[in-house]
Parts: sequence; C-alpha cells; structure tokens
Amino acid sequence: MFTLQKTSSKTKARLGKLTTDHGTIETPIFMPVGTLGTVKAVNQDDLSEKIKAQIILGNTYHLYLRPGNKIIQDAGGLHKFIGWDKPILTDSGGYQIFSLAEIRNLKEKGATFQSHIDGSKHLFTPENVVGTQRILGSDILMILDECPPYPAEFDYVKNSMELTHRWAKRGREEFLKTDPLYGHKQFQFGIVQGGVHKDLRKESSEYMASLDFEGLAIGGLSVGEPTDLMYEISDFNTDYLPENKPRYLMGVGTPANLLQNVAFGIDMFDCVMPTRNARNGMIFTRNGKINVRNAKWKHHHKPLDPDFPSELCQRYNMSYIHHLIRSNEILGLQLTSKHNLTFYLWLMERIREQIKNDTYHEWYSGMMQTVDQKI
Ligand code: GUN
Repeated sequence: MFTLQKTSSKTKARLGKLTTDHGTIETPIFMPVGTLGTVKAVNQDDLSEKIKAQIILGNTYHLYLRPGNKIIQDAGGLHKFIGWDKPILTDSGGYQIFSLAEIRNLKEKGATFQSHIDGSKHLFTPENVVGTQRILGSDILMILDECPPYPAEFDYVKNSMELTHRWAKRGREEFLKTDPLYGHKQFQFGIVQGGVHKDLRKESSEYMASLDFEGLAIGGLSVGEPTDLMYEISDFNTDYLPENKPRYLMGVGTPANLLQNVAFGIDMFDCVMPTRNARNGMIFTRNGKINVRNAKWKHHHKPLDPDFPSELCQRYNMSYIHHLIRSNEILGLQLTSKHNLTFYLWLMERIREQIKNDTYHEWYSGMMQTVDQKI
C-alpha cells in the first residue's frame, strides 16, 4: 500500500506513495476536512481540479448521526453519496465523542454518548465503528480511540492509552474478519496515544506497530499543549514508528506546523484550519497570513498575490474580498476557503519537490518563518 521513495539526508523528511483503489496519494500530503461529506464551501470539482486534493476526510461520528448508515449504504457508500471518486479517510469519531457529544461514558465495551443534534443515545464500540466505516466504504479507516485532554494527570493518560490499546486490538480483529462492501480495498490505521509522556508514546507506538495496521497515526497532540512540546513529542514519536508504513499526524496544523513535522518524518496531515479560518477572513499566502476583515484591505484595489494560482488571486482585488467577507457573502467564504486549501496543497507540493531534490533541510526553516508571519 505504501512505498517509501526517498528519505532526506539531513532531516527525517520522507517522500512516498500511498496506493488505494481510488487513486495514488503522493506523500507528504495534506487532507482537506470534509466532516459531513462536504469540505465546507467548496464543491467536489474545484477540490479535485483546482485545489488538487488527492484525498479528503470524512467523520464517522457525524455521518453516522446524519444522514445515518442506511442512507449511505443505500447510496452505495460515501464516495457515491457525495460524488467523489478519489480516496477518502474516515476518522472513527472517538475524538468527536469527547469534543461534541453532550454526555459520554467510557466503558470497556465502548463509548456511550448522547447526540449533539437531538440528544439520542448511542454506543460506539471498536467493532461497530469498523462496521460503520465498512458501510461508508472509506479507503482508510481509523480505529476507535480516546484522546485525553491536555493537561491531564499521568495516570489518566496511561489508563486511557491502555484502553485505546485494548480497543485497537479488538478493532483490528474485527477489521481482519470482515470484508469491504463495495469491491474496493480498505485499509486500517492504528492511533498512538500517550499524551506528552515519552515513555507512554514509546510503549503505544510499539504496541500499535505490533498489530500490523496498514498505517499509524499520532493522536492526542495539538490539543492545547505548547507548540514546542508538540514538536518535541512528535519528533520523539516518529523514531518509534515503522519505516515502511505511512504516518499520519492527526489534527495538525498551521503551515509552519506542517513544515516542521515533515522534517520529523510525518507523511499525512489534516486540519480544519485552512477552511475554518478562511470563513473568519484569515488568508494564508506564501509570504505570510492576513486577515481580510482588517480595514487596511478596504481600499486595496489590487490582487493579493497576482502570481498565485488561486481564483481569489487571479481574478479579484482585495477590496472586493474584504467587502464580501465583511458582508458575510457566500462567495467570500467560497473564495477564501478555496484559496487556503489551494495554498496548503501548493505548500505540500513544494515540500515534496524539496525532498526529491534533497534540499529540504536548507529550505524548510526559512519557509516556516515566512509563512508564519502576519502581513
Ligand atoms: N483528531 C485529532 N486528534 C485526534 C485523536 O487523537 N484521535 C482521533 N480519533 N482523531 C483525532
């Protein structure tokens, strides 16, 4: 499923290819978040043709609650339901149960929770989230895990990690004894937990590796810890992950976070930041980030970055984008969302180029500073 093509000589950055029945993904890659089967404010043609997304995310918790498994199964799976024929990765919902569900209760068997939509009661188990993701037909399925908050007591994090390990084993067994429903292959990724504790991260990595998932994710980071600590743990963590499997850092991050974590050997990322921040007027560019709501753009009758290949830069002046966002116009949300995703995917392409030429080590730290500055 994964071929490692090259490792940079002076960092841990890797170039690879991840092959699914819906297409090949070049790594390192960023995956736009389409929680409910839509990347907010962006249509599937633009995602594929203009933004050049190679894979998108869906979420089991959200899709299970609405529209529900029956509708998606009747449609022939999530790809058909949403009209997207490239790869899809679905998160298990473990994370959303903790961030969104009103009441939740963790037991050995699984997580019971009340829907954030109508208060109805549900149980997610390591086995039934595999079943739901079989119905979704995602190319990559994530196991059910618990993502502890930050900060948390060591004992809490350790017990939580051990529960995630027992769930991982059950989830893997369920995956191995069930079949895909729609004729295309599915892969399953484990999730390493352990908070900011290196001994737990090492233990969790070794345990997850022993279950022989097709890929491994680092979960439980970017949950409120300082950035330097996130970097320290991610750098440490990748040393304990198998070389020949894809590594996915969940929920990360800013453009600078991507650049740094690629240097630590991460292959896959997802984050709501480019789309969520776009809706609040934050625009990422190769020279830094701006807030288009700011009065300084009101009279800026010029494009933001005339050479950048996004519709926002190619066709419109900033005074108009400022007006659209200030007026809450739908077109404003569409243009900024598309632009930010185009930028994230553009950045990943540059990253892959630099690794290919073995120049990543001399390029990335300067780029991190540039993209992180406010302009
Ligand atoms: N998204 C961001 N972090 C996490 C995590 O730790 N677990 C899961 N399942 N999803 C995530």
